[in-house]
Amino acid sequence: MSIVVGITGASGSVLALNTVDELLRRNIATAVVCSNSARLVWQDELGTTFNNTLVEWQENPNFSFYPANDMRAPIASGTYPAKAMVVVPASMNTIASIAHGITSHLVHRAADVCLKERRRLVLVPRETPLNSNHLENMLTLSRMGVVVLPPEPAFYLKPQSVDDIVRFVVSRIMVALDLDESLPEEFRYDEKEDDRL
Ligand SMILES: Cc1cc2nc3c(=O)[nH]c(=O)nc-3n(C[C@H](O)[C@H](O)[C@H](O)COP(=O)(O)O)c2cc1C
Repeated sequence: MSIVVGITGASGSVLALNTVDELLRRNIATAVVCSNSARLVWQDELGTTFNNTLVEWQENPNFSFYPANDMRAPIASGTYPAKAMVVVPASMNTIASIAHGITSHLVHRAADVCLKERRRLVLVPRETPLNSNHLENMLTLSRMGVVVLPPEPAFYLKPQSVDDIVRFVVSRIMVALDLDESLPEEFRYDEKEDDRL
């Protein structure tokens, strides 16, 4: 059973990078599909091309990659043994497409398959502020059983760096994918620590 990771063109490529790294660190079979827009954001935000990262990931036997225009890829079919899928980050275009069953590329099709097969689907949307369309699309998805997981910092944990926030969000994703039962202790609110209040 593998986890499908869709990467789309919203800000937050570092979240995708760390999510895939964490899945591979856990020796989980990981199938990645990345939209064309995500490649642009990747280069802008991470200072390297998506293809450079791909070359590194491809050294791992648990990793597989499918091009966004490859509608014949195995993850486009319900017969592919996916345990769950996460789209991280999820652009508002992709949120709208998945909410309305429009499959312009393989990220959308793989998510649509996840929905029809009643598999766990986790979306990590990134946009601010949100308009009514965005909110209604996310409500539609939530009503279909999708986990909508905005990459919000846990301010009460007093993050010291972007890395702290990224590690927290990735931990949240692991729980949402049902790979962990709960967050690690470092990310739990501790009511005994009065100075946080
Ligand atoms: C540098 C950059 C940052 C972007 N950030 C966001 C974002 O945070 N949220 C969003 O919904 N769209 C964002 N966009 C716009 C999307 O990339 C665009 O809507 C695209 O059509 C999404 O396509 P996709 O869903 O196939 O990846 C950004 C685009 C660029 C170039």
